[in-house]
Amino acid sequence: MQIIILENADQVAQYGAQQFVDLLNRQPDAVLGLATGSTPVALYQNLIQRYQAGEISFERASSFNLDEYLGLAGDHPQSYRHFMNSQLFNHIDIAPQNTHIPDGSTEDPLSTCEQYEADIVKAGGIDLQLLGIGRNGHIGFNEPSSSLASRTRVKTLTPDTVAANQRFFSEGEFQPRLSLTMGIGTIMEARRILLLATGETKSAAVREAVEGPVAARCPASILQMHPRATLVLDRAAASALKDVEFYEYIERENERLLHGGE
Ligand code: GLP
Repeated sequence: MQIIILENADQVAQYGAQQFVDLLNRQPDAVLGLATGSTPVALYQNLIQRYQAGEISFERASSFNLDEYLGLAGDHPQSYRHFMNSQLFNHIDIAPQNTHIPDGSTEDPLSTCEQYEADIVKAGGIDLQLLGIGRNGHIGFNEPSSSLASRTRVKTLTPDTVAANQRFFSEGEFQPRLSLTMGIGTIMEARRILLLATGETKSAAVREAVEGPVAARCPASILQMHPRATLVLDRAAASALKDVEFYEYIERENERLLHGGE
């Protein structure tokens, strides 16, 4: 697990965006794994700017999002489909038919989930999966106690997750308690994983994910088992880690080896 600690949320977004820029320039038909939540918004803005500046194109790329609320159609303002269209897809040259998000309006969740898995395989697998982290350590909507080998399926949200996401819904508005989410096993098959976490509210989850045991009670801890997982944290999200100095030392050494310094 590579731990990168940066000064603030802006730097985290820029670092994250650079990973996508490098990938797309190397491999224009890359399969991108995307995430929702407030954390990746600044990264998406950075990608939009760099697309507008002519630095990257998504013309040949495709994408798979982690999750969607079950019971919300794609045109619902709180759906993750709507979020992705308005935060990213509408502003870049990705082909709409190449963007995949589980269909929250499905009448048959089981086959929708199976089809989602099959579509990922058909696309050749995910090259770079972006993740945020829930305050309880969830990734996608894989809440604590999720099987670490799980596949795309229906998941019940914890009251804490419902409360954390309540800010997006207006009073009295229907807020789903169920979701469709890639499983932890699905996420782990991505060739590279990039988890971004910013702010003090994530520090306990980050500590458990990085320095705790690999355990279903903190789904993000499974990333310890991934050969190419990078966690990009701001100071606040890293504030509960015990071994910050060691992680920073490793990164300085990596830089030194890469750039042939002293
Ligand atoms: C939701 C999403 C997750 C996301 C999490 C954290 O529950 N399903 O994918 O990582 O929220 O969101 P935020 O970045 O807003 O803290």
